[in-house]
Amino acid sequence: MNRVPLLALAFALLASAHDPITTKLTWTTDIVRIVYAKCGSCHRPGGSAPMSLLDYADARPWAKAIKEEVLERRMPPWGAVKGFGDFANDPSLTQEELHLIADWVEGGAPEGDPKYLPDRPAWSTAAADPFQPKWLVSAPLRLSAPAALGAVRVEGVPEHRSLKVVAVEPGGRIQPLLWLYGYRHKYTRTYAYREPVRLPAGTTIVVAPAGIARQIAFSEAPSRGR
Ligand code: HEC
Repeated sequence: MNRVPLLALAFALLASAHDPITTKLTWTTDIVRIVYAKCGSCHRPGGSAPMSLLDYADARPWAKAIKEEVLERRMPPWGAVKGFGDFANDPSLTQEELHLIADWVEGGAPEGDPKYLPDRPAWSTAAADPFQPKWLVSAPLRLSAPAALGAVRVEGVPEHRSLKVVAVEPGGRIQPLLWLYGYRHKYTRTYAYREPVRLPAGTTIVVAPAGIARQIAFSEAPSRGR
């Protein structure tokens, strides 16, 4: 029996289990804060994601996947195209956060000194701030009075489909309201505008493609309810 390939395999596995550390970034000083702020609401015990990422031991085996998911902007899930509407509750990572995570993973994803671990935030399980629809858009909706839109919520789009919502003001000006791209039912959420979107009477809210969503609703309050 030839033992060499087996030995080589064993060494290869050992090597990959001990990636050389080539970065000064660490979990406890640089990464865990991002994870608490941007991932922990779902990736915690009892959260909506399949695994917790709160502890280094939980997160380390996922390091490569974490880098890939954040660079592809699949995580944290947001579902709306950036720059089309200005939202207060967009959880997307900043460029700096993206670089920190990518460099930390590339550098071997070291833990660092546990004494630097920040306090863990408490995530509320209460359904805060319920969404209260005021305007429902089934066909193109013409506003008979001026309106200030606080938040928008779309339900029941076929998986992976996209839709655009715009407001056409009487003077012809077009305001972007929401562009959902590759809709995923499990990430359905409320999109809260940073500033209320003020529209004059006579504005028409139009959805393309028409009739693709079961419900498109705007609230007056800037609800962040999920
Ligand atoms: C809104 C909830 C939510 C947030 C916030 C969130 N995730 Fe996720 N994540 C999920 C869910 C749900 C899945 C399971 C994916 C699926 O079922 O398709 C997942 C899957 C993953 C996976 C596994 C992908 C794979 O290879 O299967 C990684 C890695 C991940 N998330 C990393 C992150 C990171 C890092 C953050 C923060 C920067 C984050 N997630 C924020 C809900 C979330």
